Amino acid sequence: MNLENKNRDERMLQNDDGNVSDGLKGKAKLNKANKEKQRSPRNKTLSLLLEERITLSKKLIKLSEGEGAKLQLQNTIFHGNFIAGQQFFPKKFAKLIIVDPPYNLTKDFHGEKFRKTSNEAYFEYIQTWLPTLIGLLDDAGSLYLCGNWYNSSVLWQALVENGMMIHNRITWQREKGRGAKNNWKNCSEDIWFATKTKNYYYNAAAVKLKRHVLAPYRNSQGPKDWQPGENGAGATRLTYASNFWDDITVPYWSMAENTEHPTQKSEKLLAKIILASSAPGDMVFDPFLGSGSTAVTAYKLQRQFCGVEIVKEYCLWALCRLEKAKHSSLIQGYKDGVFSERNSEILKRKFKQKKT
Ligand SMILES: C[S@@+](CC[C@H](N)C(=O)[O-])C[C@H]1O[C@@H](n2cnc3c(N)ncnc32)[C@H](O)[C@@H]1O
Repeated sequence: MNLENKNRDERMLQNDDGNVSDGLKGKAKLNKANKEKQRSPRNKTLSLLLEERITLSKKLIKLSEGEGAKLQLQNTIFHGNFIAGQQFFPKKFAKLIIVDPPYNLTKDFHGEKFRKTSNEAYFEYIQTWLPTLIGLLDDAGSLYLCGNWYNSSVLWQALVENGMMIHNRITWQREKGRGAKNNWKNCSEDIWFATKTKNYYYNAAAVKLKRHVLAPYRNSQGPKDWQPGENGAGATRLTYASNFWDDITVPYWSMAENTEHPTQKSEKLLAKIILASSAPGDMVFDPFLGSGSTAVTAYKLQRQFCGVEIVKEYCLWALCRLEKAKHSSLIQGYKDGVFSERNSEILKRKFKQKKT
């Protein structure tokens, strides 16, 4: 992105002293970790004890080890700098690539700092990794690139300039947003869906949404495609997914998937992408893995995963989430092959009350 980041990129590949990057050491770190565990039982935010950190650290694989070696990619989380280590990955190894890079915003990822810059400089940053990343995608594969309203046009331009075919701009609604006095509160983000060729996998039937119906289509038998609601709750209908997603909840403290990652994506959002654009057993790659949401969701949906994350603490969270996924493959908002509306339990109750 800029000189500061370039130096950081080089530093990260060479220098890893094995410390978690929260700036604390020894006893202070232990106290902090143990205090975190004393939260209200309703708060499900993931936190690790020092002992857990030590155990998980032993399982971490450093991306820098890829130098001159053949990387073991299947179901692997690499700790390291994707930009500095991108050349270690084999061409066309991934069927699906989900990219959620740092947006063009000033943001501190637990010590990994990004500074908002010009669109031109952000475009240059994207160009330091996007061409190689596209090379890692199978010819029949799909790539999803996440952004916000501010960097979205830059992402579109970068995809086009790198020869990708763009099929959709998905906009997903953030339920909450910071109020603004001088303009409209920003409550949405974008995801660009692009492929290399016209021959790509897409399974629309796997990502249907169950909606409560207010004004149904009718045929001679009555309302079309209705399914009666459970226990008197309103009738629902299965609909094909559009490019506007208003059913996503940003992870928060009472959700089992929640971590303290500042920009964590929800498993439900990732499940939609993974189910629509990959088959069971396919390799899903995420070069900016964060708290591991892509890897965990891919695992829960019987895909292979591979990811890279520069912040060690986030890698540990991802590994811990993967351990938990061995015991529960639940994805909040997705059940029996169907996605539900946001707050579907509240909606069910509302429809039930209306009837009585
Ligand atoms: C927008 S966040 C991704 C969040 C992720 N989707 C999740 O659900 O947790 C971007 C992540 O990229 C990481 N990152 C930034 N530069 C990186 C690099 N060069 N290599 C690998 N990871 C990087 C950041 O630490 C941050 O966790």
